[in-house]
Amino acid sequence: DLLKVDKEPVKVLVTGAAGQIGYALVPMIARGMMLGPNQPVILHMLDIEPGLEALKGVKMELIDGVVATTDVVEACKDVNIAVMLGGSPRKEGMERKDVMSKNVSIYKAQASALEEHAASDCKVLVVANPANTNALILKEFAPSIPEKNITCLTRLDHNRALGQISEKLNVHVSDVKNVIIWGNHSSTQYPDVNHATVTTSNGHKPVRELVADDNWLNSEFITTVQQRGGAIIKARKLSSALSAASAACDHIHDWVLGTPKGTWVSMGVYCDGSYGIQSGLIYSFPVTCDKGEWNIVQGLKIDELSREKLDKTAQELIEEKTLAYSCL
Ligand code: LMR
Repeated sequence: DLLKVDKEPVKVLVTGAAGQIGYALVPMIARGMMLGPNQPVILHMLDIEPGLEALKGVKMELIDGVVATTDVVEACKDVNIAVMLGGSPRKEGMERKDVMSKNVSIYKAQASALEEHAASDCKVLVVANPANTNALILKEFAPSIPEKNITCLTRLDHNRALGQISEKLNVHVSDVKNVIIWGNHSSTQYPDVNHATVTTSNGHKPVRELVADDNWLNSEFITTVQQRGGAIIKARKLSSALSAASAACDHIHDWVLGTPKGTWVSMGVYCDGSYGIQSGLIYSFPVTCDKGEWNIVQGLKIDELSREKLDKTAQELIEEKTLAYSCL
């Protein structure tokens, strides 16, 4: 594989590239953490006028193969992957709904630019909040991009859930797998451990069996993961950047290069009615990826407590969708 350096470069768009997450994310992409060490990339970094000086600085810090611009057309030209960080960020004390109206108009405009200028099979990851609903707006206004190509980030929450379990059990985080984040990237999300396992010297063991503290799993664990984003904002006075960038890398990496056998991850994807969730929402499901395509893991048993939580977060997404349309 050392000879594979003659691969065609992949053009990766990062919007909001001069921001916090962008500053953490672009070096990860440049180092091959997103698409592998043998895949050349051309970074297209977009930011708005007030971010231009900072963007130029980031460009100076990087090496070749970089487009840094405030021109959305130039930024979107022929991109194969688009990571949408750009948006109006949530500040301390703000609810996600407060940022809705600003962001839906941004996503409507950027959808049109991607629709016209991106590669026809461009894969899109929306990170900026409200991520699920921004992705939905993007999907609506970029109708020629296949709906399976428009996703939002819940890998951040997925990684947080893995982290909580690994701390509780004092095991390495890479030994924990198959947690699920259902629904919205918000505090109504449902972090579900009912199918999660830990690799031990005696094979895979269910997390519920090893933790043996249903009370913690059904309450504190869930609220900690649900509220982690808010807790980080409170502590940093800024929203998460390092973990968000790292999760965005994981999301694209697994989507493009595949998930390991027997392992699933969480992705916000266009819902087809799986698990009784209303179709037409961008909802986070457990997915496996192969050859650049994700598929929802089917047939998992959903108990009564989970059912309620799956529906509650779906309900919030239905409300966000209505609100988003009223802002347009
Ligand atoms: C996070 O989960 O860290 C971010 O989405 C922060 C936020 O604005 O909720």
